[in-house]
Amino acid sequence: MAANSLTITDNRTGKSYEVPVTDGTIKAMDLRQIKTGADDFGLMTYDPAFMNTASCRSAITFIDGDKGILEYRGYPIEDIADKASFLEVAYLLNEGEFPNTAQLAKWTDDVRYHTYVHTNVIKFLEGFRYDAHPMGMLLGAVGALSTFYPDAKHIDDPRNRYVQRVRLMAKFPTIAAFCFRHSHGLPYEFPRNDLSYIGNFVNMTFSIGGKHEPNPVLQRALEILLILHADHEQNCSTNAVRSVGSSHVDPFSAISAGIAALYGPLHGGANEAVLRMLDEIGSKDRIPGFIEKVKKGEGRLMGFGHRVYKSYDPRAKLIKHIADEVFQQTGMNPKLEIALQLEAIALKDDYFIQRKLYPNVDFYSGLIYQAMGYPTDYFTVLFALGRLPGWLAQWEELVKDGEQKIARPRQIYTGPRKRKFSK
Ligand SMILES: CC(C)(COP(=O)(O)OP(=O)(O)OC[C@H]1O[C@@H](n2cnc3c(N)ncnc32)[C@H](O)[C@@H]1OP(=O)(O)O)[C@@H](O)C(=O)NCCC(=O)NCCS
Repeated sequence: MAANSLTITDNRTGKSYEVPVTDGTIKAMDLRQIKTGADDFGLMTYDPAFMNTASCRSAITFIDGDKGILEYRGYPIEDIADKASFLEVAYLLNEGEFPNTAQLAKWTDDVRYHTYVHTNVIKFLEGFRYDAHPMGMLLGAVGALSTFYPDAKHIDDPRNRYVQRVRLMAKFPTIAAFCFRHSHGLPYEFPRNDLSYIGNFVNMTFSIGGKHEPNPVLQRALEILLILHADHEQNCSTNAVRSVGSSHVDPFSAISAGIAALYGPLHGGANEAVLRMLDEIGSKDRIPGFIEKVKKGEGRLMGFGHRVYKSYDPRAKLIKHIADEVFQQTGMNPKLEIALQLEAIALKDDYFIQRKLYPNVDFYSGLIYQAMGYPTDYFTVLFALGRLPGWLAQWEELVKDGEQKIARPRQIYTGPRKRKFSK
């Protein structure tokens, strides 16, 4: 019997099976041999929401939720957020290494070259209602890019994939900014290729009459927030990108599926919920009463707890630091004072300690985005902008992975069978 194996005894038949254990996993397909008879389909696993199923091998992002560790390509998030630019991180996630000077210059130029979108994109953005949710606009527009670049379907060609990744990195901020302008009834501001990636995006959102005074502290804060969101391994939207991408559709369509997944309140919408909660609390003296309600099960402390992190989310620590810097620029916000006190009280409370509930990435990020001037329904667009490099890296890894096939889960059928149909 091999040491790295699992022996399974099927008590239905009394038979035993030896299944190899590799990287702490067994292959679900190895269970299929376990049958009660010739007509039996074979044993499957039942795992709604993929709570305990690895869907791929990945070398992009490492998370240890118990220890609060997050690494991109092996580099701790704390070091990356401190020293790297967003474009460098995008390169790291996609190419596996940080770029050298020449590689960074080429990558930056390539992205800068593609920032404009076809003017017809503007025409269909203009067709959205004045109050259209920017995420709905974004997912529609990014998906529609596939019709402008039909060559993107040649996903087996690495050079072609690179071009589409560049196009997405370049055009995404432009479309995201156009969605912002649409919501505000402002004319679209075209890309300025003399500005940095972040500087250009901020200019496209906030410039009025061709003028915007850049604030380097706020721009760097936004850049760090995007870096902190750049990848988070197999979360809901990344899984959507991979699942849709597994049909070998073009990357614009696959990324648009990721945006759709992120649109959902359980994924991208929690920072908005934090702001609503802080509004509901209203003043510091009402915090103890609110905490008591949460402990009685009457609502949750939004921005606390995480499916994976069972200690302080490393991104939340960094974001708290960013919040200090941003609020020094924009002035103190009464909601931040409530948030700080709420956190301090919750971290000392047995209810939260016992359940390992710590602040997550969303606890302070909404407050910061709001202080920067972004409305609440735009927060998820900023999340998508940050997550884009991760989606692209995961898509590239999927396409190159010889073990992958079209994603197609099994089911346990619970409906009726062989019913008689008569009219
Ligand atoms: C993120 C989240 C969905 C993770 O949930 P999960 O891993 O499935 O954890 P569970 O829902 O099983 O919760 C475990 C226990 O902690 C409690 N709990 C979890 N998050 C809580 C919160 N934010 N406030 C109060 N109690 C919470 C649950 O009530 C449960 O308590 P019980 O054992 O007495 O029933 C959850 O923590 C949550 O809803 N947080 C608030 C929303 C949020 O900030 N989401 C953004 C995530 S990045």
